[in-house]
Amino acid sequence: MADIRPYRASDRDDIYEICLKTGRSGQDATGWLDDDDLLPDIYALPYVDLAPETAFVVDVDGRARGYILGVADTAAFVERLRSDWLPGFLEKYPPNDADTPTARFARDASRPERMLIPELTEFPAHLHIDLLPELQGQGFGRGLVRTLLSSLRERSVPGVWLEYGADNVSAGAFYRRLGFTPLASGAGTRVGLHTDAVV
Ligand SMILES: CC(C)(COP(=O)(O)OP(=O)(O)OC[C@H]1O[C@@H](n2cnc3c(N)ncnc32)[C@H](O)[C@@H]1OP(=O)(O)O)[C@@H](O)C(=O)NCCC(=O)NCCS
Repeated sequence: MADIRPYRASDRDDIYEICLKTGRSGQDATGWLDDDDLLPDIYALPYVDLAPETAFVVDVDGRARGYILGVADTAAFVERLRSDWLPGFLEKYPPNDADTPTARFARDASRPERMLIPELTEFPAHLHIDLLPELQGQGFGRGLVRTLLSSLRERSVPGVWLEYGADNVSAGAFYRRLGFTPLASGAGTRVGLHTDAVV
């Protein structure tokens, strides 16, 4: 029996696993980068540590097998990343100029201000969503987005944005299907949705 519920601290290891197993354009990223921790350290763990109130999971027999990780106020999150998260991140992943996927992800992450997109007034929130393969294609993605939208509406947040990898064609189709539309500032893969949308 699978259902959607709020994140709890005991889900943290499952969140790590889901992120790693879906982190390479939706496919398993295990062994891809120099350190398997890198993707969860950027795209999942800071979210549940700094913004647990807008994180939701698909629970299967007590284990989180999918998640949506939202941040209601991207600008405030960027400030907290810079002050509370970046020092430890840079210590774990010292910056270098190498032209490798690992170095590129680490360089990107060391600039939290990349998230200060011009459309933040209309779309102050942002999100990450991932489901393990066995849960995909059954409506849980739609359910998670619906759950996050409702939580953001309660917080009077008007819109949410995200950016997906250009080679993640499936994710692009999913977001379009739910009504996300491309934002002017991105290269077509940065999309936004108002929280009063019916998904
Ligand atoms: C992308 C993802 C979150 C979508 O969640 P999901 O539970 O598989 O999608 P749903 O079953 O809720 O689908 C919702 C709608 O989107 C459509 N959709 C989903 N994937 C689609 C695809 N690849 N192509 C076309 N339509 C798609 C569904 O048909 C459905 O529409 P319908 O209800 O009218 O039939 C999920 O597949 C996933 O986690 N993938 C791997 C990780 C990933 O890529 N995450 C996104 C990173 S940016």
